[in-house]
Amino acid sequence: MRRSLRGALRCLGVKVCRRSALLVVLLWLASWLFLNGLVFVHRNMLSDFCTEDKSKEILQRVCAEYQQGVLTGDLCEDLCVAGRVEYKRCLYYENGKKVMAASWRGVPIVLKSKLENFSSYEALALLEYQDAAGGTGGEEELSPLDVVFYATLEIKNSLGLETGTNLTLPRLWGQKLKENERTYSRAELASLWALLQQEEYTFLRVLQDLTHHVAKILGSCGHFYAVEYLVAGHAWDQHIFSLEELTLSPSPSPWSGQEKTMTARDMVPRVALSFLEMVEHFENDFSHSLHLCDIKPENFAIRKDLTVVAIDVDMAFFEPKMRDILEQNCTSDNDCNFFDCISKCDKTKNRCGPKRKNSNLQVICEKIFRPWISPTLLGAKAGLPLQVALQRAVQECAEIDGGGDAKRMRAVRKQLQGLLVELIQEDTGNQGEGQEHKMRHFISK
Ligand SMILES: Nc1ncnc2c1ncn2[C@@H]1O[C@H](COP(=O)(O)OP(=O)(O)OP(=O)(O)O)[C@@H](O)[C@H]1O
Ligand SMILES: *[C@@H]1O[C@H](CO)[C@@H](O)[C@H](O)[C@H]1NC(C)=O
Ligand SMILES: *[C@@H]1O[C@H](CO)[C@@H](O)[C@H](O)[C@H]1NC(C)=O
Ligand SMILES: *[C@@H]1O[C@H](CO)[C@@H](O)[C@H](O)[C@H]1NC(C)=O
Repeated sequence: MRRSLRGALRCLGVKVCRRSALLVVLLWLASWLFLNGLVFVHRNMLSDFCTEDKSKEILQRVCAEYQQGVLTGDLCEDLCVAGRVEYKRCLYYENGKKVMAASWRGVPIVLKSKLENFSSYEALALLEYQDAAGGTGGEEELSPLDVVFYATLEIKNSLGLETGTNLTLPRLWGQKLKENERTYSRAELASLWALLQQEEYTFLRVLQDLTHHVAKILGSCGHFYAVEYLVAGHAWDQHIFSLEELTLSPSPSPWSGQEKTMTARDMVPRVALSFLEMVEHFENDFSHSLHLCDIKPENFAIRKDLTVVAIDVDMAFFEPKMRDILEQNCTSDNDCNFFDCISKCDKTKNRCGPKRKNSNLQVICEKIFRPWISPTLLGAKAGLPLQVALQRAVQECAEIDGGGDAKRMRAVRKQLQGLLVELIQEDTGNQGEGQEHKMRHFISK
């Protein structure tokens, strides 16, 4: 199809084949439209329709169960009684997963649950056991230790961390629990259990206190949890993140009053710097390095202060799980690609190496920085020495083959970092003192 189209285009100028060229173009257009229509219909038939009525119905069911004492959470009172949670629109309804935008006491939030109904989650076996043993009065309450124990098992299971490793989370929780010697109601436990069955929640929860490069969990009610509203990246937008969305939101942004001077182009080096910081964080600051295996603009978002946040963590794995995933039978290197995480095929054993060959930074350079830090986006400045150096550094970073060369990767990261900082300083220098002070704030974040 493509070749005939090209052939047709080549002879466009010649009178004789003008007609056939037109025909081919029309045919091509028609089949393109037809295929797109097919995909569209297919998508809509498979996904649940996302309507306001349906969303409200789902939330009403949550509230009914809250009132029956089946589930609870710190968000329930505001959602179900005080009316302080206002539904806005749905963002994503697919395979049962529900993601909706709302505002909580004026703060924009996103409400999420992997499944629509509370009853669809597995019940906590411990509660059933207590029912059977019950009748002695205190059966409604569990000790904090039991909660920690079960939560730990669930978390390790879900994150693929073997037992025996030091997990930061249960210790943190354990301390918090010790401080307030309280017991937990069954609604609290059942709700926690439903939340822990959602890998994304578990993941966010584990990393909450350790990094600001994941979405903040603001509260929960039953199986629904609220995270901060962020500006997600778009593949179709060449700027990836849209500054307009940030400046239009109600609460004041850090550069409020300066919207006119801070353009999308000014944002690029600041957001890029935050990407680098995130990469460093994920690699070094947890007990296992964290691998992002699905890197694309849609899976990242930014806050008002321009910090980058990983929003789709379905494809994020700690080292032990990563090794399990990579270690497969193989006949060639191609068998050792797991989305953006790749390793080498050991031909003597016909087994993929367990160690990832490329890195988060390499893929981010290739799939995000390269299209982003490009001449078209840099505009008139693209020819300046700093910009040229930056583009070259990005190119080098994208082409690094890994091969266990951590030293070179670090050097490239340092170089990128240096160039971006310089770029920001240059920008700031042009715009006067007041602004400079504000930008420092971004850099030091
Ligand atoms: N904190 C957030 N702020 C704003 N929008 C969000 C937020 N979290 C998710 N979204 C939007 O909702 C959409 C779906 O959310 P999410 O990323 O959780 O689903 P998903 O895990 O990507 O689903 P799938 O794995 O099937 O692609 C995202 O593409 C994003 O546009
Ligand atoms: C959720 O519960 C409602 C009411 O009980 C039911 O009609 C609906 O089919 C359930 N949805 C799913 C996905 O189980
Ligand atoms: C856990 O951490 C402690 C102190 O930080 C250390 O002594 C111990 O060996 C660690 N255990 C494991 C299994 O890593
Ligand atoms: C992988 O290879 C080993 C031996 O080479 C074989 O025993 C095993 O069944 C294979 N596994 C899969 C999933 O093919």
